[in-house]
Amino acid sequence: MSRPVVLDVDTGIDDALAIALAALSPELRLEAVTAVAGNVDVEKAARNSGGVLHLLGRDDVPVYVGARKPLVGKLKTAEWVHGEDGIAGLGLSGGRVVGEAAANAIARIARETGGVTLITTGPLTNLALALSLEPELVDYVEAHYMMGGAYGLSPYGFGNATATAEFNVWQDPEAAEIVFSSGLNTYAIGLDVTMDPAAGLTLEEAEALGEAGCPACRLASHVSRFYIERVGDPLMRLHDPMAVAAALRSELFTFEEHPVEVALCGKARGTTLVERRPWVKKPGVKIAVSVKGGEFKAFFSSRLAGRGD
Ligand code: RIB
Ligand code: CA
Repeated sequence: MSRPVVLDVDTGIDDALAIALAALSPELRLEAVTAVAGNVDVEKAARNSGGVLHLLGRDDVPVYVGARKPLVGKLKTAEWVHGEDGIAGLGLSGGRVVGEAAANAIARIARETGGVTLITTGPLTNLALALSLEPELVDYVEAHYMMGGAYGLSPYGFGNATATAEFNVWQDPEAAEIVFSSGLNTYAIGLDVTMDPAAGLTLEEAEALGEAGCPACRLASHVSRFYIERVGDPLMRLHDPMAVAAALRSELFTFEEHPVEVALCGKARGTTLVERRPWVKKPGVKIAVSVKGGEFKAFFSSRLAGRGD
């Protein structure tokens, strides 16, 4: 029995791989992809998401357009990483972009399914808006897996947007604060695990994946080479696919549960603050503190190549 899933993305190159992993995993019933502004503007994110779904033969999955900017402040995009089009110059298009607003679609699908799994790989703006639209949303969400945050709970848990803030939370700190304090059953896949070198794809591994020849494999190989050459990082960081993998193979991760707040002002804006004082009793977030990087990469590659497992 497959689980109903809504995937909220700011497609971008690693979001594209998260869409591919979700679309190629039979355990998940991909009800919708919702786009949010982040890596690129929301129109590009929606177009790229539809293009990836079309590439994979998944025009059955609707794409909804969401927030054009964070709740507070201006949008700060990252074309320098993802390319001007947000998808490594592939210029993908197609798929089924529909008119309903993303936040409304998230709330509606959660109610209709009675128990949806939300996976977010961009800023949390759409989810924060959905929580305002549907105050009982928490009751309709079985689990929320988010790529975001830098929690200082592993050697890799420092910032990428600033010294201490991870990009998705930094882009919309107010939205993240709303989500962390909402009571959602949230699993946070942050830089603590996504920046573990054991979980990154080398150029050789990406090329080998591309030789498998399937559309998802060629997509992964292209965007990995693009990222490695453009950014000068020796590894393709699989931030967003790792959030999908956490929903599919939680045994590859270890989690610690702690309350999390978000710094909203000053140089620390966007930093995730982990409450570790044992006497402070507040609802927590399950934070990934380690990942079996080799097994994660093997799972990711095997799924994209359709080798099952
Ligand atoms: O910090 C990494 C995250 O920011 C990823 O989701 C990437 O796509 C960007 O959105
Ligand atoms: Ca993303």
